[in-house]
Amino acid sequence: MSIRTVTTQPFPDQKPGTSGLRKKVPVFQQPNYLENFVQAIFDSIAAPQGATLVVGGDGRYYNREAIQIILKMAAANGFGKVLVGRGGILSTPAASCVIRKYSTFGGIILSASHNPGGPKEDFGIKFNSSNGGPATETVTDAIFAKSKNIASYRILDGADVSLDELGETTLGGMKVQVIDPVNDYAELMDKLFDFDAIRGLLKSGFRIKFDAMHAVNGPYAKEIIETRLGAAAGSVMNGVPLEDFGGGHPDPNLTYAHDLVEIMYGDDAPDFGAASDGDGDRNMILGKHFFVTPSDSLALLAANATLTPGYKQGLAGIARSMPTSAAADRVAKALNIPCYETPTGWKFFGNLMDAGKVSLCGEESFGTGSDHVREKDGLWAVLFWLNILAVRKQSVEAIVREHWGKYGRNFYSRYDYEGLPTEAANGVMQHLRDNFSALTGSSQGNYTVATCDDFSYTDPVDGSISKNQGVRILFDDGSRIIYRLSGTGTEGATLRVYLEAYEADASQHHLDAQEALKKLIGIALDISELVKRTGRERPTVIT
Ligand code: G1P
Ligand code: ZN
Repeated sequence: MSIRTVTTQPFPDQKPGTSGLRKKVPVFQQPNYLENFVQAIFDSIAAPQGATLVVGGDGRYYNREAIQIILKMAAANGFGKVLVGRGGILSTPAASCVIRKYSTFGGIILSASHNPGGPKEDFGIKFNSSNGGPATETVTDAIFAKSKNIASYRILDGADVSLDELGETTLGGMKVQVIDPVNDYAELMDKLFDFDAIRGLLKSGFRIKFDAMHAVNGPYAKEIIETRLGAAAGSVMNGVPLEDFGGGHPDPNLTYAHDLVEIMYGDDAPDFGAASDGDGDRNMILGKHFFVTPSDSLALLAANATLTPGYKQGLAGIARSMPTSAAADRVAKALNIPCYETPTGWKFFGNLMDAGKVSLCGEESFGTGSDHVREKDGLWAVLFWLNILAVRKQSVEAIVREHWGKYGRNFYSRYDYEGLPTEAANGVMQHLRDNFSALTGSSQGNYTVATCDDFSYTDPVDGSISKNQGVRILFDDGSRIIYRLSGTGTEGATLRVYLEAYEADASQHHLDAQEALKKLIGIALDISELVKRTGRERPTVIT
């Protein structure tokens, strides 16, 4: 087998974000497109000769083709060994787990997370470092810079590697070890959570439904929830990963996980329902006829963490993204531990966890995690909940209501306006910024604006400053409206409006969130001139 150096031209659009490079499949299928980006990664990460890499993806369309290209390029670029999940499968948290467990140099993860898959849909690639987390901005900037000047890439000429049998083969001078994608991850979960207690709960007749949404967590959930924990066969639904996720949008929220929502709000609803996304890092938690907001879920996991073996020593600290509700802050205060407010995106949590400042972290966007890996982790959150339920022996709803009774309730909702013309979306943000001083101190219905700003974050570990992370309108009673432009949308601009109102009075806790937030939503639309500027009467998705 010989190494070929292929002459190529740069593609100017290969700018990776923290969730990597995300494009439509036909873009990735252009000759040299993926190859250029992979070479730019290899040229930027300075891996020593003979280093070990982890490779796997969420199984979406183009996963297998991409993996063959990456393997041949890794062999031609001096890697000694690649660990690849069987069938090319590794959920994002499992990839993080494998990178850490085997102390590898890093890994390449193929996924476009919760975005749809298929020949005309999304694909993505990112590099994770040896801590198991997404590469830092310094590295992603270097990758982008390389991609702009690339003139050639190296690839091995050779036959494809079989990905379907476990075991070791060689590709040129490099070893390729096909590993069970589930096993290492399942072992880690077994250490963190009391599997015996969960087994007991499930034996007692407690019924659960996990919707894998035809995405990567199907095999993980079947092995862990049905086989190891003994949940009834069929507890995992949509458990076979499909290249197009069965035509669905693999995002676990009330809109896209509607099959599960119907079951959980139906006549014969199980006791617990959950779903995860395309690459397995997001989660949604439901009780019988009851939805747990991700912000509440984070607060609740923190408040109950010592009920699980993995966190029985207590938490070092909690971190939440800025738009996530302040419910976790109240728990942190009660536990007398620090709570960090970071910009949106998982990378900020990684620094805090590597420095030992934080054990649990989460985002309102259905992402929760801990320092067991360096990615958010969907199935981990589900098992954490099951462990708490097994110990407390109360319903999901009862546990959440008790929590609100103790800490107060942070009513919360997010409105997403997807596929907006970029100028209109920027116009809304600019209009708000232009009005900070007029808004400050103004009365809006029953609310008074305390301050407005553009959120800026100074990383307490490395001192780096991230500016313009979202416009905040903060009211004097602790309520908040936040406006942010999405960094992950692939069509036009996505504007997110986050609404939060704190209610200490338990007699109000029964209210529906939309009802409780009605006035705030009116204010949010009014002060931003959103409808006029975007022409949208309604958001695309409400969560
Ligand atoms: C979205 C979420 C954010 C999450 C990211 C990656 O980013 O809002 O919390 O970290 O996906 O899963 P956004 O599109 O808002 O930039
Ligand atoms: Zn994801």
